[in-house]
Amino acid sequence: MPSELSCSGKKRERLSIPKSAVIRGCGAYYPERVLSNADLEHMVDTSDEWITTRTGIKERRIAAPDEASSDLAMKAAQKAIDMAGWEIDDIDTIIVGTVTPDYMFPSCACTLQGKLGAKNAVAFDISAACSGFIYGLSLSRALLVSGQARRILLVGVETLSRIVDYSERSTCVLFGDGAGAVVLEGSPEPDVGVKSVAIGSDGVHGELLYMPAGGSRNPATHDTVEKKLHSMKMNGNEVFKIAVRGMEAISRKAIDAAACTIDDIDLFIPHQANFRMIDATAKRLGIPEEKVVVTVDRFGNTSASSIPIALDEAVRDGRIKEGDMLGMVAFGAGLTWGASVVRWEGPAR
Ligand code: COA
Repeated sequence: MPSELSCSGKKRERLSIPKSAVIRGCGAYYPERVLSNADLEHMVDTSDEWITTRTGIKERRIAAPDEASSDLAMKAAQKAIDMAGWEIDDIDTIIVGTVTPDYMFPSCACTLQGKLGAKNAVAFDISAACSGFIYGLSLSRALLVSGQARRILLVGVETLSRIVDYSERSTCVLFGDGAGAVVLEGSPEPDVGVKSVAIGSDGVHGELLYMPAGGSRNPATHDTVEKKLHSMKMNGNEVFKIAVRGMEAISRKAIDAAACTIDDIDLFIPHQANFRMIDATAKRLGIPEEKVVVTVDRFGNTSASSIPIALDEAVRDGRIKEGDMLGMVAFGAGLTWGASVVRWEGPAR
Protein backbone atom coordinates (compact mmCIF):
# COMPACT_ATOMS: atom_id res chain seq x y z
CA MET A 1 0.00 0.00 0.00
CA PRO A 2 1.41 3.49 -0.86
CA SER A 3 2.36 5.81 1.99
CA GLU A 4 2.14 9.57 2.60
CA LEU A 5 3.40 12.07 5.16
CA SER A 6 0.96 13.12 7.89
CA CYS A 7 0.71 16.77 9.01
CA SER A 8 3.26 16.06 11.74
CA GLY A 9 5.67 14.68 9.09
CA LYS A 10 5.22 11.01 10.09
CA LYS A 11 4.94 8.36 7.40
CA ARG A 12 1.55 6.61 7.34
CA GLU A 13 -0.38 4.28 5.03
CA ARG A 14 -2.33 6.10 2.36
CA LEU A 15 -5.90 4.83 2.05
CA SER A 16 -6.79 4.14 -1.57
CA ILE A 17 -9.68 6.23 -2.94
CA PRO A 18 -12.48 4.00 -4.30
CA LYS A 19 -13.55 4.26 -7.92
CA SER A 20 -17.21 3.46 -7.32
CA ALA A 21 -19.88 3.05 -4.65
CA VAL A 22 -21.65 -0.29 -4.21
CA ILE A 23 -24.74 -1.31 -2.25
CA ARG A 24 -23.86 -4.20 0.08
CA GLY A 25 -27.19 -4.74 1.81
CA CYS A 26 -30.79 -3.59 2.05
CA GLY A 27 -33.67 -3.82 4.50
CA ALA A 28 -37.24 -2.67 4.97
CA TYR A 29 -39.74 -2.32 7.74
CA TYR A 30 -43.41 -1.40 7.67
CA PRO A 31 -45.70 -1.10 10.67
CA GLU A 32 -48.15 -3.90 11.50
CA ARG A 33 -51.39 -1.91 11.32
CA VAL A 34 -53.09 -2.11 7.92
CA LEU A 35 -55.45 0.67 6.81
CA SER A 36 -57.53 -0.74 3.97
CA ASN A 37 -59.71 1.01 1.43
CA ALA A 38 -62.70 -0.51 3.24
CA ASP A 39 -61.52 1.21 6.46
CA LEU A 40 -61.26 4.54 4.62
CA GLU A 41 -64.83 4.13 3.32
CA HIS A 42 -65.90 4.55 6.98
CA MET A 43 -63.73 7.65 7.48
CA VAL A 44 -64.37 9.80 4.37
CA ASP A 45 -66.68 9.92 1.36
CA THR A 46 -64.73 7.51 -0.84
CA SER A 47 -64.91 3.98 -2.22
CA ASP A 48 -62.57 1.07 -2.81
CA GLU A 49 -63.51 1.33 -6.49
CA TRP A 50 -62.47 5.04 -6.73
CA ILE A 51 -59.19 4.53 -4.89
CA THR A 52 -58.28 1.40 -6.84
CA THR A 53 -59.02 2.79 -10.29
CA ARG A 54 -57.42 6.22 -9.67
CA THR A 55 -54.37 5.06 -7.70
CA GLY A 56 -53.96 1.27 -7.66
CA ILE A 57 -53.73 1.42 -3.85
CA LYS A 58 -55.59 -1.25 -1.83
CA GLU A 59 -54.04 -0.74 1.61
CA ARG A 60 -51.29 1.10 3.48
CA ARG A 61 -49.47 0.68 6.81
CA ILE A 62 -49.89 3.04 9.76
CA ALA A 63 -47.35 3.42 12.57
CA ALA A 64 -48.47 2.59 16.11
CA PRO A 65 -48.93 5.60 18.42
CA ASP A 66 -45.58 4.90 20.10
CA GLU A 67 -43.70 4.35 16.81
CA ALA A 68 -41.85 7.34 15.35
CA SER A 69 -39.75 7.52 12.18
CA SER A 70 -36.50 6.60 13.91
CA ASP A 71 -38.13 3.40 15.27
CA LEU A 72 -39.13 2.32 11.77
CA ALA A 73 -35.74 3.38 10.41
CA MET A 74 -33.87 1.37 13.03
CA LYS A 75 -35.57 -1.89 12.07
CA ALA A 76 -34.90 -1.39 8.33
CA ALA A 77 -31.31 -0.30 9.02
CA GLN A 78 -30.54 -3.34 11.15
CA LYS A 79 -31.69 -5.66 8.35
CA ALA A 80 -29.49 -3.87 5.79
CA ILE A 81 -26.47 -4.03 8.13
CA ASP A 82 -27.11 -7.74 8.78
CA MET A 83 -27.36 -8.51 5.04
CA ALA A 84 -23.98 -6.87 4.50
CA GLY A 85 -22.50 -8.73 7.47
CA TRP A 86 -21.27 -5.47 9.02
CA GLU A 87 -20.98 -4.33 12.62
CA ILE A 88 -22.64 -1.09 13.78
CA ASP A 89 -19.18 0.35 14.48
CA ASP A 90 -18.24 -0.06 10.79
CA ILE A 91 -20.62 2.74 9.80
CA ASP A 92 -19.03 6.18 9.52
CA THR A 93 -21.96 8.05 7.92
CA ILE A 94 -25.73 7.90 8.44
CA ILE A 95 -27.95 9.75 5.98
CA VAL A 96 -31.73 9.79 6.39
CA GLY A 97 -34.17 11.06 3.77
CA THR A 98 -37.40 12.10 5.50
CA VAL A 99 -39.97 14.87 5.86
CA THR A 100 -41.36 13.32 9.04
CA PRO A 101 -38.43 13.21 11.47
CA ASP A 102 -39.22 12.42 15.13
CA TYR A 103 -38.64 16.12 15.95
CA MET A 104 -38.06 19.36 14.03
CA PHE A 105 -34.58 18.94 15.45
CA PRO A 106 -32.35 17.08 16.13
CA SER A 107 -32.28 15.25 12.82
CA CYS A 108 -33.85 11.83 12.45
CA ALA A 109 -30.39 10.56 11.47
CA CYS A 110 -28.94 11.68 14.82
CA THR A 111 -31.87 10.10 16.69
CA LEU A 112 -31.28 6.89 14.72
CA GLN A 113 -27.54 7.05 15.40
CA GLY A 114 -28.24 7.22 19.15
CA LYS A 115 -30.59 4.24 19.01
CA LEU A 116 -28.18 2.15 16.94
CA GLY A 117 -25.21 3.14 19.09
CA ALA A 118 -23.29 4.00 15.91
CA LYS A 119 -20.64 5.98 17.74
CA ASN A 120 -18.23 6.22 14.79
CA ALA A 121 -20.73 7.88 12.47
CA VAL A 122 -21.60 11.42 11.44
CA ALA A 123 -25.38 11.67 10.96
CA PHE A 124 -27.64 14.09 9.10
CA ASP A 125 -30.97 14.30 7.24
CA ILE A 126 -31.83 15.20 3.68
CA SER A 127 -35.14 16.99 3.05
CA ALA A 128 -36.11 16.12 -0.51
CA ALA A 129 -39.48 14.46 0.20
CA CYS A 130 -40.18 11.50 -2.10
CA SER A 131 -36.82 12.02 -3.85
CA GLY A 132 -34.92 11.72 -0.57
CA PHE A 133 -33.56 8.25 -1.26
CA ILE A 134 -32.19 9.15 -4.71
CA TYR A 135 -30.71 12.40 -3.36
CA GLY A 136 -29.12 10.30 -0.62
CA LEU A 137 -27.72 7.89 -3.19
CA SER A 138 -26.17 10.81 -5.06
CA LEU A 139 -24.57 12.18 -1.90
CA SER A 140 -23.44 8.73 -0.70
CA ARG A 141 -21.70 8.05 -3.98
CA ALA A 142 -19.94 11.43 -3.88
CA LEU A 143 -18.78 10.91 -0.28
CA LEU A 144 -17.49 7.40 -1.00
CA VAL A 145 -15.61 8.12 -4.23
CA SER A 146 -14.04 11.24 -2.70
CA GLY A 147 -12.75 9.15 0.19
CA GLN A 148 -14.70 11.23 2.73
CA ALA A 149 -16.76 8.23 3.86
CA ARG A 150 -16.02 4.51 3.85
CA ARG A 151 -19.25 2.84 4.95
CA ILE A 152 -22.61 4.59 4.74
CA LEU A 153 -26.07 3.74 6.05
CA LEU A 154 -28.70 5.42 3.87
CA VAL A 155 -32.32 5.31 5.04
CA GLY A 156 -35.60 6.55 3.57
CA VAL A 157 -38.29 6.71 6.24
CA GLU A 158 -41.68 8.34 6.71
CA THR A 159 -44.55 8.37 9.16
CA LEU A 160 -46.77 10.33 6.80
CA SER A 161 -49.86 9.29 8.77
CA ARG A 162 -48.79 11.95 11.29
CA ILE A 163 -49.14 14.76 8.72
CA VAL A 164 -52.16 13.47 6.79
CA ASP A 165 -55.59 15.00 7.41
CA TYR A 166 -57.90 11.97 7.66
CA SER A 167 -60.93 14.10 6.85
CA GLU A 168 -59.46 15.17 3.47
CA ARG A 169 -60.30 12.41 0.97
CA SER A 170 -58.08 13.68 -1.84
CA THR A 171 -54.89 13.04 0.18
CA CYS A 172 -55.65 10.61 3.00
CA VAL A 173 -56.17 7.65 0.67
CA LEU A 174 -52.71 8.03 -0.87
CA PHE A 175 -50.11 7.88 1.87
CA GLY A 176 -48.63 5.31 4.26
CA ASP A 177 -45.76 4.73 6.68
CA GLY A 178 -42.58 2.68 6.23
CA ALA A 179 -38.81 2.56 6.14
CA GLY A 180 -36.22 1.24 3.70
CA ALA A 181 -32.44 1.21 4.05
CA VAL A 182 -29.28 0.35 2.17
CA VAL A 183 -25.64 0.22 3.20
CA LEU A 184 -22.94 1.29 0.77
CA GLU A 185 -19.17 1.16 0.61
CA GLY A 186 -16.48 2.13 -1.88
CA SER A 187 -15.02 -0.32 -4.38
CA PRO A 188 -11.68 -0.21 -6.22
CA GLU A 189 -13.50 -1.52 -9.35
CA PRO A 190 -14.38 1.33 -11.72
CA ASP A 191 -17.59 0.11 -13.30
CA VAL A 192 -19.74 -1.45 -10.59
CA GLY A 193 -22.45 -0.41 -8.14
CA VAL A 194 -24.03 3.02 -8.49
CA LYS A 195 -23.24 3.77 -12.14
CA SER A 196 -25.05 7.09 -12.37
CA VAL A 197 -27.28 9.43 -10.42
CA ALA A 198 -29.09 12.48 -11.82
CA ILE A 199 -31.06 14.84 -9.59
CA GLY A 200 -33.04 18.05 -10.09
CA SER A 201 -35.34 20.48 -8.31
CA ASP A 202 -37.66 23.43 -8.97
CA GLY A 203 -38.65 25.52 -5.95
CA VAL A 204 -41.07 27.67 -7.94
CA HIS A 205 -43.69 24.91 -7.64
CA GLY A 206 -43.16 24.26 -3.93
CA GLU A 207 -46.77 24.96 -2.96
CA LEU A 208 -48.16 22.22 -5.21
CA LEU A 209 -47.34 19.83 -2.37
CA TYR A 210 -46.43 21.14 1.06
CA MET A 211 -47.22 21.42 4.74
CA PRO A 212 -48.01 25.08 5.42
CA ALA A 213 -47.45 25.32 9.19
CA GLY A 214 -44.96 24.23 11.80
CA GLY A 215 -41.96 25.98 10.27
CA SER A 216 -40.77 29.59 10.54
CA ARG A 217 -43.37 30.92 8.06
CA ASN A 218 -46.38 29.79 10.11
CA PRO A 219 -45.31 28.61 13.55
CA ALA A 220 -47.83 26.56 15.49
CA THR A 221 -50.76 28.53 16.94
CA HIS A 222 -54.34 27.61 17.86
CA ASP A 223 -55.30 29.09 14.49
CA THR A 224 -52.90 26.90 12.46
CA VAL A 225 -54.17 23.83 14.28
CA GLU A 226 -57.83 24.79 13.78
CA LYS A 227 -57.23 25.38 10.07
CA LYS A 228 -55.41 22.03 9.78
CA LEU A 229 -52.31 23.68 8.40
CA HIS A 230 -50.07 21.04 10.01
CA SER A 231 -51.14 18.49 7.42
CA MET A 232 -50.07 18.20 3.82
CA LYS A 233 -51.81 20.12 1.04
CA MET A 234 -51.57 18.99 -2.55
CA ASN A 235 -52.70 19.89 -6.05
CA GLY A 236 -52.83 16.26 -7.20
CA ASN A 237 -53.61 16.86 -10.86
CA GLU A 238 -50.70 19.27 -11.41
CA VAL A 239 -48.26 17.09 -9.48
CA PHE A 240 -49.33 14.08 -11.54
CA LYS A 241 -48.61 15.77 -14.89
CA ILE A 242 -45.27 17.29 -13.89
CA ALA A 243 -44.17 14.06 -12.19
CA VAL A 244 -44.73 11.80 -15.18
CA ARG A 245 -42.88 14.14 -17.56
CA GLY A 246 -40.13 14.74 -15.00
CA MET A 247 -39.59 11.08 -14.20
CA GLU A 248 -39.28 10.19 -17.86
CA ALA A 249 -36.74 12.95 -18.52
CA ILE A 250 -34.55 12.29 -15.48
CA SER A 251 -34.61 8.51 -16.12
CA ARG A 252 -33.28 9.08 -19.63
CA LYS A 253 -30.57 11.36 -18.25
CA ALA A 254 -29.42 8.77 -15.68
CA ILE A 255 -29.49 5.94 -18.24
CA ASP A 256 -27.44 8.07 -20.65
CA ALA A 257 -24.96 8.99 -17.91
CA ALA A 258 -24.49 5.29 -17.15
CA ALA A 259 -23.73 4.68 -20.86
CA CYS A 260 -26.67 2.24 -20.96
CA THR A 261 -29.83 1.91 -23.00
CA ILE A 262 -33.36 1.29 -21.72
CA ASP A 263 -33.01 -2.34 -22.83
CA ASP A 264 -30.04 -2.80 -20.48
CA ILE A 265 -32.30 -2.15 -17.46
CA ASP A 266 -33.25 -5.52 -15.91
CA LEU A 267 -35.62 -4.11 -13.32
CA PHE A 268 -37.22 -0.67 -12.98
CA ILE A 269 -37.96 0.55 -9.43
CA PRO A 270 -39.98 3.78 -9.63
CA HIS A 271 -41.23 5.82 -6.70
CA GLN A 272 -44.52 4.25 -5.62
CA ALA A 273 -46.96 7.18 -5.59
CA ASN A 274 -49.78 5.99 -7.81
CA PHE A 275 -50.01 2.98 -10.13
CA ARG A 276 -51.17 5.20 -13.01
CA MET A 277 -48.06 7.35 -12.59
CA ILE A 278 -45.80 4.29 -12.53
CA ASP A 279 -47.52 2.83 -15.58
CA ALA A 280 -47.43 6.09 -17.57
CA THR A 281 -43.73 6.63 -16.81
CA ALA A 282 -42.80 3.06 -17.76
CA LYS A 283 -44.81 3.29 -20.99
CA ARG A 284 -43.14 6.59 -21.98
CA LEU A 285 -39.76 4.96 -21.40
CA GLY A 286 -40.75 1.78 -23.25
CA ILE A 287 -40.16 -0.45 -20.23
CA PRO A 288 -42.37 -3.58 -20.25
CA GLU A 289 -44.57 -4.13 -17.18
CA GLU A 290 -42.85 -7.39 -16.19
CA LYS A 291 -39.70 -5.34 -15.52
CA VAL A 292 -41.47 -2.87 -13.20
CA VAL A 293 -41.54 -3.39 -9.40
CA VAL A 294 -44.89 -2.41 -7.87
CA THR A 295 -45.63 -2.22 -4.14
CA VAL A 296 -48.00 0.76 -4.16
CA ASP A 297 -51.02 -1.57 -3.94
CA ARG A 298 -49.93 -2.71 -0.45
CA PHE A 299 -48.14 0.32 0.99
CA GLY A 300 -49.47 3.40 -0.79
CA ASN A 301 -47.08 6.32 -1.17
CA THR A 302 -44.43 6.06 1.55
CA SER A 303 -42.37 8.95 0.11
CA ALA A 304 -38.60 8.61 0.72
CA SER A 305 -38.96 4.98 1.77
CA SER A 306 -40.87 3.73 -1.26
CA ILE A 307 -37.87 2.91 -3.49
CA PRO A 308 -35.76 1.13 -0.84
CA ILE A 309 -38.84 -0.83 0.32
CA ALA A 310 -39.49 -1.97 -3.28
CA LEU A 311 -35.79 -2.70 -3.79
CA ASP A 312 -35.66 -4.81 -0.64
CA GLU A 313 -38.73 -6.80 -1.65
CA ALA A 314 -37.29 -7.60 -5.09
CA VAL A 315 -33.89 -8.56 -3.64
CA ARG A 316 -35.39 -10.87 -1.01
CA ASP A 317 -37.85 -12.58 -3.38
CA GLY A 318 -35.04 -13.29 -5.85
CA ARG A 319 -36.10 -10.95 -8.66
CA ILE A 320 -32.79 -9.09 -8.29
CA LYS A 321 -29.54 -11.01 -8.64
CA GLU A 322 -25.91 -9.99 -8.54
CA GLY A 323 -24.98 -8.07 -11.68
CA ASP A 324 -28.55 -7.01 -12.50
CA MET A 325 -28.94 -3.48 -13.78
CA LEU A 326 -31.57 -1.48 -11.85
CA GLY A 327 -33.23 1.76 -12.89
CA MET A 328 -34.68 3.87 -10.06
CA VAL A 329 -36.61 7.11 -10.37
CA ALA A 330 -38.38 9.42 -7.92
CA PHE A 331 -40.40 12.62 -7.87
CA GLY A 332 -41.57 14.62 -4.89
CA ALA A 333 -42.29 17.82 -3.05
CA GLY A 334 -39.89 20.68 -3.55
CA LEU A 335 -40.38 19.98 -6.34
CA THR A 336 -37.57 17.45 -6.49
CA TRP A 337 -36.73 14.54 -8.75
CA GLY A 338 -33.94 12.08 -9.35
CA ALA A 339 -32.97 8.84 -11.06
CA SER A 340 -30.16 6.34 -10.77
CA VAL A 341 -28.77 3.32 -12.55
CA VAL A 342 -27.34 0.77 -10.13
CA ARG A 343 -25.61 -2.54 -10.83
CA TRP A 344 -26.70 -4.73 -7.93
CA GLU A 345 -23.68 -6.19 -6.15
CA GLY A 346 -25.05 -7.35 -2.79
CA PRO A 347 -22.93 -8.59 0.14
CA ALA A 348 -19.16 -8.83 -0.41
CA ARG A 349 -17.95 -12.38 -0.99
N1 COA B 1 -62.68 9.34 -3.25
C1 COA B 1 -63.68 9.72 -4.09
N2 COA B 1 -63.60 10.84 -4.82
C2 COA B 1 -62.52 11.60 -4.71
C3 COA B 1 -61.46 11.28 -3.86
C4 COA B 1 -61.57 10.11 -3.11
N3 COA B 1 -60.61 9.68 -2.27
N4 COA B 1 -60.49 12.20 -3.96
C5 COA B 1 -60.92 13.11 -4.86
N5 COA B 1 -62.15 12.74 -5.31
C6 COA B 1 -63.01 13.43 -6.27
C7 COA B 1 -62.68 14.90 -6.41
O1 COA B 1 -63.32 15.62 -5.41
C8 COA B 1 -63.22 15.18 -7.79
O2 COA B 1 -64.61 15.35 -7.68
P1 COA B 1 -65.35 16.49 -8.54
O3 COA B 1 -65.10 16.10 -9.98
O4 COA B 1 -66.76 16.34 -8.11
O5 COA B 1 -64.69 17.76 -8.16
C9 COA B 1 -62.99 13.87 -8.55
O6 COA B 1 -62.77 12.87 -7.55
C10 COA B 1 -61.80 13.91 -9.47
O7 COA B 1 -60.71 14.43 -8.77
P2 COA B 1 -59.32 14.58 -9.45
O8 COA B 1 -58.39 15.24 -8.50
O9 COA B 1 -59.44 15.18 -10.82
O10 COA B 1 -58.92 13.03 -9.64
P3 COA B 1 -57.67 12.43 -10.36
O11 COA B 1 -58.09 11.43 -11.33
O12 COA B 1 -56.69 13.47 -10.78
O13 COA B 1 -56.96 11.65 -9.16
C11 COA B 1 -55.19 11.82 -7.57
C12 COA B 1 -56.54 12.34 -8.00
C13 COA B 1 -54.78 12.57 -6.31
C14 COA B 1 -55.30 10.35 -7.27
C15 COA B 1 -54.15 12.06 -8.70
O14 COA B 1 -54.22 13.36 -9.16
C16 COA B 1 -52.75 11.76 -8.24
O15 COA B 1 -52.42 10.65 -7.91
N6 COA B 1 -51.88 12.77 -8.29
C17 COA B 1 -50.51 12.64 -7.86
C18 COA B 1 -50.45 12.71 -6.38
C19 COA B 1 -49.14 12.22 -5.85
O16 COA B 1 -48.79 11.11 -6.10
N7 COA B 1 -48.46 13.07 -5.11
C20 COA B 1 -47.25 12.74 -4.53
C21 COA B 1 -46.18 12.84 -5.54
S1 COA B 1 -44.73 12.25 -4.90
